[in-house]
Amino acid sequence: MTKQTRVLVTGAGGFIGHHLVKRLKAEGYWVRGADVKLPEYEASAADEFDVVDLRDYDKCLGATAGGIDQVYNLAADMGGIGYITASHAEISRNNILINAHMLEASRQNRVSRFLFSSSACVYAGYKQTSPDVSPLREEDAYPAAPEPGYGWEKLFTEELCLYYRQDYGFETRIVRFHNVYGPLGTYEGGKEKAPAAIARKVALAEDGGEIEIWGDGEQTRSFMYVDDCVEGLIRLMASDYHQPLNLGNDRLITINGLVDLISGIAVKKLVKRYDLSKPQGVRGRNSDNTRLLQTLHWEPRISLEEGLEITYQWIEQELKKANRIPLAYSSQAAG
Ligand code: NAD
Ligand code: GDD
Repeated sequence: MTKQTRVLVTGAGGFIGHHLVKRLKAEGYWVRGADVKLPEYEASAADEFDVVDLRDYDKCLGATAGGIDQVYNLAADMGGIGYITASHAEISRNNILINAHMLEASRQNRVSRFLFSSSACVYAGYKQTSPDVSPLREEDAYPAAPEPGYGWEKLFTEELCLYYRQDYGFETRIVRFHNVYGPLGTYEGGKEKAPAAIARKVALAEDGGEIEIWGDGEQTRSFMYVDDCVEGLIRLMASDYHQPLNLGNDRLITINGLVDLISGIAVKKLVKRYDLSKPQGVRGRNSDNTRLLQTLHWEPRISLEEGLEITYQWIEQELKKANRIPLAYSSQAAG
């Protein structure tokens, strides 16, 4: 009988980590989750769950002990553009500690493969100044000018993964996510990203009412549904590719376009009120999937319409459960 692969998912109390644990369990892996918190919206499917602060090296040693074969390192102090631009020092310090300690603890415990979750925030700001931005190829991270704080930390940890491979022969994988959305993700409290924030605002608005948009709405992004993200993670872990790799959708859309799609799902006509004083990040960002296709022979395939429908319905249900939406405002009443 072949040995069951033992996997550690850090950040398993968070959005992507929780979905990944569910998928790995469905595929027959033995899974340990680790996070400072348990998942918010449903119980973890993990075989074991360590509630630990992974800034602490001893906790990283404990989490990687016991014959762990693969580590998906998803733990991070992170959020949408409002959150990551508010405190550069704290976010950088927290993530440097988690990543440096997780890498070394994994090596000491003879983990076979370590996957680091990087971000499209590593890309050079000067290449993202226009809404009709060219899709970003992996080499567009250099000459370096990433997002202050969070982006620099991600870029440096990418390098650290490559050094561990060069100097110790330690097998690392590096993925650059482009804005991931889906159910069971943060939709309020300050860490939410645009799809969830806008879904919440639309759900809470009365048909014919007004919602606030950060910026002028003409900035662009691409958005990846979480099931595609999890599929890409598992494929990358299984592959031999060790250089940084984009994992994102390559359909560019304006934030106004995103708002219109979500309003359409909710069957509401809403007035957009633009707040130019709010954080906006880069003017345009898209994923070039050439290398992803060459490497994994696959790319994200769930359409924005399909993914947003599921995400919107989940957020609306959460708000209804909390008695925050008058029945007359909801998509079911409108439909
Ligand atoms: P998330 O915030 O939902 O999950 C991150 C988890 O890390 C949280 O549950 C948090 O409690 C945990 N964590 C934070 N500090 C910790 C600590 N000191 N010890 C232990 N756990 C700690 O975020 P997510 O969207 O699931 O992101 C997962 C990973 O993907 C992160 O590394 C993030 O930077 C990266 N990423 C995500 C996106 C995205 O669009 N969601 C984009 C780019 C990169
Ligand atoms: N969060 C949020 N909330 N953004 C809004 C809102 C709102 O209510 N209204 C409009 N926006 C605009 C923002 O101003 C920004 O221009 C755009 O929507 C996208 O915002 P976010 O989703 O918060 O972040 P991002 O795409 O700039 O960066 C995110 O993605 C990176 C990976 O692609 C962040 O989550 C990063 O942490 C992540 O690494």
